[in-house]
Amino acid sequence: MCGIIGVAAQKGNVVPLIIGGLKRLEYRGYDSAGIAVVSGSTVSVRKGAGKIEHVVVAKGFEELNGSTGIGHTRWATHGAPNDINAHPHTDCTGSIAVVHNGIIKNYAELKEELVARGHRFSSETDTEVIAHLIEEELRRQGSFRHAFQEAVKRLEGSFAIAVLYSGEPDRIYFAKKDSPLVVGLGRGANFLASDIPAFLEHTRRVIVLRDGEAGWITSQEVHIENVYTGESVDVPGRVRTISWSPSMAAKGGYPHFMLKEIHEQPRALRDTFYGLSSDESLAKAAELLAGAERIYVTAAGTSFHAGLLFDYYMLRLAGRTVRAFIASEYEWFKGVPGRGDVLLAISQSGETMDTLKAVRLFKEHGARVIALSNVYESAIPRESGIAIYTRAGPEIGVAASKTFLTQALALLLLAGHAARISGRITRDEMAEIMSAASKANRLAQRAISVSEGVVRTVAKWFSKKGNAYILSRGIGVPIAMEGALKVKEISYIHAEAYPAGESKHGPIALIEPGFPVFFLLVDQHLKELKGNVMEMKARGATVVAVGPPRSEILSESDIHIPAPEAPPLLEPFTLTPPLQLLAYYTAVSLGYNPDKPRNLAKTVTVE
Ligand code: AGP
Repeated sequence: MCGIIGVAAQKGNVVPLIIGGLKRLEYRGYDSAGIAVVSGSTVSVRKGAGKIEHVVVAKGFEELNGSTGIGHTRWATHGAPNDINAHPHTDCTGSIAVVHNGIIKNYAELKEELVARGHRFSSETDTEVIAHLIEEELRRQGSFRHAFQEAVKRLEGSFAIAVLYSGEPDRIYFAKKDSPLVVGLGRGANFLASDIPAFLEHTRRVIVLRDGEAGWITSQEVHIENVYTGESVDVPGRVRTISWSPSMAAKGGYPHFMLKEIHEQPRALRDTFYGLSSDESLAKAAELLAGAERIYVTAAGTSFHAGLLFDYYMLRLAGRTVRAFIASEYEWFKGVPGRGDVLLAISQSGETMDTLKAVRLFKEHGARVIALSNVYESAIPRESGIAIYTRAGPEIGVAASKTFLTQALALLLLAGHAARISGRITRDEMAEIMSAASKANRLAQRAISVSEGVVRTVAKWFSKKGNAYILSRGIGVPIAMEGALKVKEISYIHAEAYPAGESKHGPIALIEPGFPVFFLLVDQHLKELKGNVMEMKARGATVVAVGPPRSEILSESDIHIPAPEAPPLLEPFTLTPPLQLLAYYTAVSLGYNPDKPRNLAKTVTVE
């Protein structure tokens, strides 16, 4: 939901750094983009609708020059994606420029008040009130720092803000609440951004800002304080050096980030396995689960599908039922959780607002919360009692791929440990689970190698279809749901996943000759799956079997996408990659950019 960047350099022109950063943040939104720099004592703004590559040229971003600047890539919430609504927004004098990620809930009241005081607005955005509010406060306060603080205190809602002011040309002011913002400490330049990859080429030394924090950066200085209490933050004490390398945030020779990230899964799984094998937080989380009265799991999108796998693993291994719910439906649970209950919140970004709201609700009721995320110190882990991290590295493609399988692996380990602590499985059985989990990376590698060639051909055929079902049973159902989400998100083909047995209760009505039905061959349910294949065949469906070569099913199928054999709990690692590749190659066949699907943003920080 919008990406922001700010660069304050000692010398030179920051425009190329801002453009580079915006390109890395484009996954957060790409309907318009803009930039502002201070040159001399003037703030210059260029902005427009469209993808960054296009806007940079069309609006002449590179004609600007300055050593302090801010940039924005937008995913529209208030106001259509057009040139005027693109950020940065300025005050009446044009000396204050603001970029913002989030939603200012009280913007209508603030706007009314400011208009009554004579401020002239040019956009339909909520963001523009921030520029005018600072301008208004500046008239009263005299000092920009205080004017900025007072303005921030009046904002309700979520915000990550970066502000330029012509009167202080070497500074970028910032504030953060409920939207991510990170400071990067470089040599001769400091950075602000919504996400680390934006400046990863220049520094790995970061401070992840917390809610309520505000301050400024110059090329030499970083000042942070709590805007509501005035308390200063010990900046050196908060600096962390992250292990991500710049190449992790680059395409590495692949045509798209998504393909690179699919191929990176074996590496991501290996790192996650070894990272979590001796992780104290995982052990603590498992203990909490083992002693929990009731267990809930919540998430959105892909992370929810991982949550369903957790449900499966907990039932199979620990004999515990887990109530899985879509995070945006958290209000169902008002008044429900108690002190003995545990919520597991899964979010690769750690910033999804729906999931964060669910976490807050459960905490208010006294429940304990465990977070599983891919982003260190992001909002959800920070607000949870225990945080576990996958080691997928930065995921730039908007459609999640490597983060799903690393979540699945972390959840298998978590369920295994919870089962062991509660005495449900023996030490030897746990050792078997660990040994199987240690092979997840190899299984994913084989799945990619054996399926990719076939999938390329199948994708050409599939790209001409308008609908599909992806069916399976047991552990295959969450995998099918994830596959259907991938197909919808990036190839825009309508795909639905169902438990195969459920299809005859309604969905089968849509089947007509040539309708594609994919079956994920999970070993425990082959007999029943065969029955479902026959039902579909009898109605003329084109059956695509995905999985190991099971002759009883292949004899009834039209197409086979191969996948390797896998032990029962590890089927997500062999059956997911072929579906990810199918979505990817179908999107490419149709001429779509899989990294930037329409209408989507990678991190959804609005409700
Ligand atoms: C996945 O491909 C999606 N883009 C989306 O469904 C995503 O999984 C969802 O928004 C949740 O994100 P999170 O894991 O960062 O919370």
